[in-house]
Amino acid sequence: MRDNKTSQAAIEYDANVHKTIPRYHLFHDETLDLVKSTVPKPLAWLDTGCGTGTLILKAIEQFGQLRFVAADPAEGMLKITAEKLANNEITYVLAGSEDLDYTDDFDVVTAIMVHHYLDEEGRKKATKNCYDMLKQGGIYITFESIRPNTETGTQIGLKRWQNAQLLNGKSPEAVDKHISRYGSELLPITIEAHKKLLTEAGFSTVEILWVSGMQAGFYGIK
Ligand SMILES: C[S@@+](CC[C@H](N)C(=O)[O-])C[C@H]1O[C@@H](n2cnc3c(N)ncnc32)[C@H](O)[C@@H]1O
Repeated sequence: MRDNKTSQAAIEYDANVHKTIPRYHLFHDETLDLVKSTVPKPLAWLDTGCGTGTLILKAIEQFGQLRFVAADPAEGMLKITAEKLANNEITYVLAGSEDLDYTDDFDVVTAIMVHHYLDEEGRKKATKNCYDMLKQGGIYITFESIRPNTETGTQIGLKRWQNAQLLNGKSPEAVDKHISRYGSELLPITIEAHKKLLTEAGFSTVEILWVSGMQAGFYGIK
């Protein structure tokens, strides 16, 4: 049974995410590397849509214990995060990015593969809230599935994503089911639209961090 917005149940997420999202681990590695170069000594870090807590676990390994807030609207996901991060001091919040209630509080806000379930208005609200929750000079880093600029590009991208999942050992039925979510449950936007979204939220520096196939990473500095 699905207990969150991803294509798998929370309990199966860690075992399957690599099969579904090509180069998934790089999202976390690129994020951590960017934080190291921009905010080398963060004091407070919000990971919104934390899922099963993998990014925070890696962040603790690299940056040590600091004030971490792990937020997610799915109880099943937060429960796994809490188990994974037991023995660490973490604040857990059961809410989506759009409903989190902090102001000028964090050096780092991360949202990895999180906002592509939201419609245009929801995404704007979530992104603006991430901006508001950052301290001045803080960094927002997000990865998402994206939409190519053309229908042909989209079809080519989806075909390649489909092939990657098959090569990773997923059944054709599971792959079809996942790909059919694109445009219905998954609402990706183009790279240009991402840059505009971040600029309109107020970020002074807006950059593309990483692109491969149907996924991309972006960052904004407040
Ligand atoms: C694909 S998982 C990514 C989890 C994690 N960030 C990672 O890197 O593995 C998407 C997560 O976003 C959460 N989510 C869905 N809608 C959200 C929203 N509006 N705000 C924050 N998180 C959301 C889901 O519950 C799920 O845990």
